[in-house]
Amino acid sequence: MSASTLESFIAGAEERSRGERAPADCVLDIAPLMLDLMQGASTFLEPQHYRSGPAGYTRNLIWAAPDRSMSLYSLVWLPGQWTPIHDHGSWGVVGVLEGVLEERAYVRLSPDREAGHDIELVRGGVVLLGRGAVTSFVPNPDHIHVTGVPAERPRAVSLHLYGRMMSSFNIYDPANRSRRRIEVAHNES
Ligand SMILES: [Fe+2]
Repeated sequence: MSASTLESFIAGAEERSRGERAPADCVLDIAPLMLDLMQGASTFLEPQHYRSGPAGYTRNLIWAAPDRSMSLYSLVWLPGQWTPIHDHGSWGVVGVLEGVLEERAYVRLSPDREAGHDIELVRGGVVLLGRGAVTSFVPNPDHIHVTGVPAERPRAVSLHLYGRMMSSFNIYDPANRSRRRIEVAHNES
């Protein structure tokens, strides 16, 4: 019983992302599954999935496909913890389990999306994702943003399914009009 919510989510996500499906179709079809996953979160989340720390937001791996084509993490955001400005290089579906996850968008104005320099980024809007919210992104054009929790708000916990192992991504420096690739750590299950 305890594994059925997670197992059916994984089976559904695998079915809906199989083959050469467009990323926009993958996230369209998987977003409703994220709602179901959150409804049943208490059946599969364990204390290690709520790990957090003072150094920054914490990424806890819940599941990874054997071929590394998908990965599911719980992210725990303590007050005042934020990502750098980043992209994803993948489609992704995110659901908020607890708290309010704040997302501050950036828009890339320079047309060559592959270039790592002469990047013109401007600040976009803000979205406050409350408990139960589901959001998504596709890789091209990628979603560039900062996510986190302001110091005055309580902890947030979110579930993130990606169309790859999310072990590296690009972080952006608007002042220098550049980006660079970084490795990002996670806790194993
Ligand atoms: Fe992100």
